[in-house]
Amino acid sequence: MHNTTELQAALHTISLYSPDPLAMARFYSAAYGMSLEAVEGGYVCRGPGRQVQITTGPANQLGYAQFALHTPAAWQHLRQRVQALDAQAVPAHYPAGAVAVCDPDGNRIVFTAPEDSSLAGSHAELPAATLQHFALRTQQLPQMLAFYTDQLGFVLSDAVRDAEGQLRACFLRSDHLHHALALFLAPVSCFDHQSFEAPDWASMKAWGDHMASLREPIVWGIGRHGPGNDVFFMVRDPDGNLAEISAEIEHCEPGRPAGEWAHEERTLNLWGKAILRS
Ligand SMILES: [Fe+2]
Repeated sequence: MHNTTELQAALHTISLYSPDPLAMARFYSAAYGMSLEAVEGGYVCRGPGRQVQITTGPANQLGYAQFALHTPAAWQHLRQRVQALDAQAVPAHYPAGAVAVCDPDGNRIVFTAPEDSSLAGSHAELPAATLQHFALRTQQLPQMLAFYTDQLGFVLSDAVRDAEGQLRACFLRSDHLHHALALFLAPVSCFDHQSFEAPDWASMKAWGDHMASLREPIVWGIGRHGPGNDVFFMVRDPDGNLAEISAEIEHCEPGRPAGEWAHEERTLNLWGKAILRS
């Protein structure tokens, strides 16, 4: 029986490794309308509601994902929950008290206290888009699912199984939004994508036109995911990671039963072709 109470946290920052951090930072800064600043070991890109950091390292690997807790009570509960887990080194620039854990694949997840809209602000030329979810590929999906639900308190929103009943993908939420993390069974464990959630359908068009102005081709979509019901399109960053703009993600009621989907193209794109990770 999996946990059914969300931990009440939202994705705040994605940090990626890259052999060419400057090329990656320039891409995210331009494609997603963020400032670009050099920091120790790499670069940080900041925009309203979105923050991406790139540091030197192997391509297609997560440096860390940072979640900010919504309330002091949720922060207190999370800290008690992870006390039993092995503490991991927290990136140096985080405030005292941040906690970090490693999942079974070695991805580092950092949790921080509630904060007062440090990423607030607006971007004059572009519609809004808030860093909202990310996805990982893994060779050990059941172990990863168990870690995120049983140890960290993520809630399973939807599972994808093949005809033999094997779990192929799962979508996990950390608050009322359908998924903050997606896990895909794949031949290689690595980062898959991050998504920036736009406020409405009209914003998708504006973001599409923005990508066109940069000559960044859409590599998947525009379509609508089955699990989460989010409208989406994806581009590729210079390292080959997918990067998404989405809208209309499902808002889940507490206690919503986990859904089951067939492992087929239609599940990952109700409107057509899919990228199947295995
Ligand atoms: Fe996504």
